[in-house]
Amino acid sequence: MKEKITRIKEQILEGLKPVKDLGQLNEIKIKALGKKSEFNQLLKEMVNLKAEERKLIGKFVNETKNILQEKIDEKFLEIKNNIKKERIEKEKIDISLPGRKQVHGSLHPITKTIFQIKEIVSEMGFDIVDGPEIELVKYNFDALNIPKTHPSREKTDTFYITDEIVLRTQTSPMQIRYMMEHKPPFRMISMGKVYRPDYDVSHTPMFHQVEGLMVGENISFANFKAMLELIVKRIFGQERKVRFRPHFFPFTEPSAEMDVECGVCHGEGCRVCKNTGWLEILGSGMVNAKVLEAGGIDSTKYQGFAFGIGLERVTMLKHGIDDLRAFFENDVRFLEQF
Ligand code: DAH
Repeated sequence: MKEKITRIKEQILEGLKPVKDLGQLNEIKIKALGKKSEFNQLLKEMVNLKAEERKLIGKFVNETKNILQEKIDEKFLEIKNNIKKERIEKEKIDISLPGRKQVHGSLHPITKTIFQIKEIVSEMGFDIVDGPEIELVKYNFDALNIPKTHPSREKTDTFYITDEIVLRTQTSPMQIRYMMEHKPPFRMISMGKVYRPDYDVSHTPMFHQVEGLMVGENISFANFKAMLELIVKRIFGQERKVRFRPHFFPFTEPSAEMDVECGVCHGEGCRVCKNTGWLEILGSGMVNAKVLEAGGIDSTKYQGFAFGIGLERVTMLKHGIDDLRAFFENDVRFLEQF
């Protein structure tokens, strides 16, 4: 009987050696020490033995079972340790690897120009106001003295919502809205999006304008020139030369366009400035008496000047960007440069 027990023990120990996972180990444990184990079968057979012998064999079986339990426990620890080791090996962190870079956002170049202009003009006492992008034809064209037959009113140049409502094509209607709500003297600036159905290197269907208006008693053409020169030199730098050229706008009389010296060739003449040495940056003039009246202001008592600047144009000239569309494509490689 003892031999049989020892043989069973050896078999179990032999079977234990190659075990690599806890599932297998559990199977062996049940087989070796469970209710239906061979030892328990043997114990049943022991009823035929003499009491003396039965006691000895019983003791031997229990000792054997204890030994097996110990071996199984050892194996259990061994497997557990192996699993842990493997995991640590797999999760090993290479602290010499370079870390992941944090990507920081930055302000859009147009936003930067808006902030810069706001800072400059608010120091000069201008009231900064917002206006609607969906505008009445009455304010966008009629009140600004733009003739009914003017080409800018065509459906090919203006986005119409109805016959009376458009996406504003310029920020100039803010002149009318402001005059209707304020008594002179005042100076105001309004910036925002404007819309025209165009798309090429120098045109996008949406772009940004700044509108300025100053109205009061005894405001002369000299005041107008001085004030605009001051603003433009604050934007482009004191060394940058500027000049006025006579022009025509329906809402101003007389009207002028302002040029800044070409930043690429510094006045020498190049491809960018079409060999003139100058780049046009704004439209302006003394507010037409008809426009003052449309805004409810007595044109015999008050005068004023107005100006309009394209924000994309200013930003392009400042940074030497040659494709307007780059502003709205949101290519990070372009935006990161600012
Ligand atoms: N509104 C004009 C445009 O979109 C720009 C402009 C010119 C605005 C002369 C003015 C101005 O206020 O006086 O082309």
